[in-house]
Amino acid sequence: MKRTLGTCYYPEHWPREIWEDDARRMAELGLTWVRIGEFSWSQLEPARGDYHFEWLDDAIAVLGAAGLKVVLGTPTATPPRWMIDRYPDMLAVDVEGRPRKFGSRRHYCFSHEGYKSECARIVTAMAKRYGDNPHVAAWQTDNEYGCHDTTISYSDAARKAFQTWLRGRYLGNGNSGDIDALNRAWGNKFWSMEYDDFGQIDLPNLTVTEPNPAHSLAFRRFSSDQVVAFNRLQVDILRAHTDAPITHNYMGRITDFDHFAVGADLDIASWDSYPLGFLEDRVGAKDDWQRRYAQQGDPDFQAMHHDLFRAVGRGRWWVMEQQPGPVNWAPYNPAPLPGMVRLWSWEAFAHGAEAVCFFRWRQAPFAQEQMHAGLLRPDSVDAPGLQEARQVAEELASAPDVAQGRADVAIVFDYDADFAWTVQPHGQGLTYFGLVFEWYKALRSLGLSLDIVPAGKPDLTGYKLVVAPGLMHMPDAMKAALSSCAAQVVFGPRSGARDVDMSMPVPLPPAMPGLDVTVTHVESLRPDMPVGLQGGGCLHIYREALHGAADVEERSVDGAPVIMGSDRLSYVGAWLDQNALRRLIKRKCAAAGIATMDLPDGVRVRDCAEERFWFNYNAEPVVVDGRTLDAAGVHRQSLTDLE
Ligand code: GAL
Repeated sequence: MKRTLGTCYYPEHWPREIWEDDARRMAELGLTWVRIGEFSWSQLEPARGDYHFEWLDDAIAVLGAAGLKVVLGTPTATPPRWMIDRYPDMLAVDVEGRPRKFGSRRHYCFSHEGYKSECARIVTAMAKRYGDNPHVAAWQTDNEYGCHDTTISYSDAARKAFQTWLRGRYLGNGNSGDIDALNRAWGNKFWSMEYDDFGQIDLPNLTVTEPNPAHSLAFRRFSSDQVVAFNRLQVDILRAHTDAPITHNYMGRITDFDHFAVGADLDIASWDSYPLGFLEDRVGAKDDWQRRYAQQGDPDFQAMHHDLFRAVGRGRWWVMEQQPGPVNWAPYNPAPLPGMVRLWSWEAFAHGAEAVCFFRWRQAPFAQEQMHAGLLRPDSVDAPGLQEARQVAEELASAPDVAQGRADVAIVFDYDADFAWTVQPHGQGLTYFGLVFEWYKALRSLGLSLDIVPAGKPDLTGYKLVVAPGLMHMPDAMKAALSSCAAQVVFGPRSGARDVDMSMPVPLPPAMPGLDVTVTHVESLRPDMPVGLQGGGCLHIYREALHGAADVEERSVDGAPVIMGSDRLSYVGAWLDQNALRRLIKRKCAAAGIATMDLPDGVRVRDCAEERFWFNYNAEPVVVDGRTLDAAGVHRQSLTDLE
């Protein structure tokens, strides 16, 4: 399969007279894909049951006639105004108990049965009409589940559905809901929180002080399951009418639903990559780092998502939306450094992407995204990003096909662990995603290509090094997989620190077969309380006291064990800085027989099947390994030259 490019297009935003010209210019640019339709519900059905598909028939025909392939989006992220009149209670409710209003998008609650039946109706109508249209080569469900903080809703519909979900989870002897089982599992004797009946259980918001973490975790798991069910409803309908692959476009650093579970129902994972917006609003980097990479994006944030979504898509993944110029939604919105649109695109292909689509074709002169660049200016003249898209299209013509490559290193990622850390961080800045990202950065700074694997049933065969930080709940099967695989394994902090219902297990964690280490107590630290390690670097914001007969691999300057291990297993009892993490990873790589490189800041490499890719996120040229990488440059090297 060739690597391909595409764009996101809104024919309904533009006069009919220019569609042919748009399609011709897209094809001439070298694009293959055009995603359309995902926000067009009010144009498709201006009043309930009054369908207007003619314009969409026409748009698909025009694009298809130009040789383009359509990704057709279901429009369920934007229920029209009449829907709210019909179901005023379908609006999601925020943590303060306020319904969210009509007037932007994603204003629905995943648990509202009435809204779900309307979604089923519009998706059925579209699937019947376009399921065998030869130009519709793929489908996208909805748009960015969870974006704008929309996974969790404290609505009445959610409360009732949560009670039903709990009844199915806490079962008594007769296989029906057993409220005593729930009370026991949650420790509800504490503060007299016991319930007599599932119907009494409210959602965990607006409590006087924090709700029971078991209650909050259950609600997060429920909310995640609601996203999975909402998506599955659409997928089942689509599959009955089409053989085309189905995807969903996930968003960066949204962790409040299980993407692996949604992805299990889809053929391809895709995600929306906005490197500059992300650095400003969600990476969490320090000011000097944000300034240094303001026009390039964080050098690891995109790559980590590429690796994550390759896992979510079981190998098949795309960038559905690629930033082509300044965006509109971050605190600051600079233009990318010349070269970065090309670099971001190649970086995705280096991590195994099948396609990269630029958001959007033409900048809209109206509504919320007026200040968001497209490949074209609002007056249809080429915008700066278009030249770089053209260059990538030309380079792709002679490039190898889509390839994943195989890594020696695996990092385990678990959405359920993210839920648990969110429910009970124990200190500011302690997030699961942030922890995994720190480890990812350290691994990548040593020139390692890696795979992300889900925690559920991890297949660790063939890996030489497996890292699994922060898996707050570790079912026995997960512990067995880690302790019995052939790889060097690093895990902790907080591994197995809670049971499935968010209580502390006894024996105390990590209780890992083959490793005599016990975490006897834990503390979170102010950011200005770092503790040095004897070997260099430091721990900060969180530490654990470790005891046991395993070897002490690292101590803090105050003499306490920080990393303990035996044989292939090492347990890390702290949040480590980059210096300490790199030393640890180098040691484990040496034991595993994996070569590492000391890359300069902002330089990253990734090995694909036939090529090694070098990326320079710096605004200046960098000399590395005897070669000069241009500022914002990409260098491709044949892997056979390296042998
Ligand atoms: C994405 C979204 C697009 C558009 C874009 C702007 O999150 O899917 O519809 O809003 O952001 O950057």
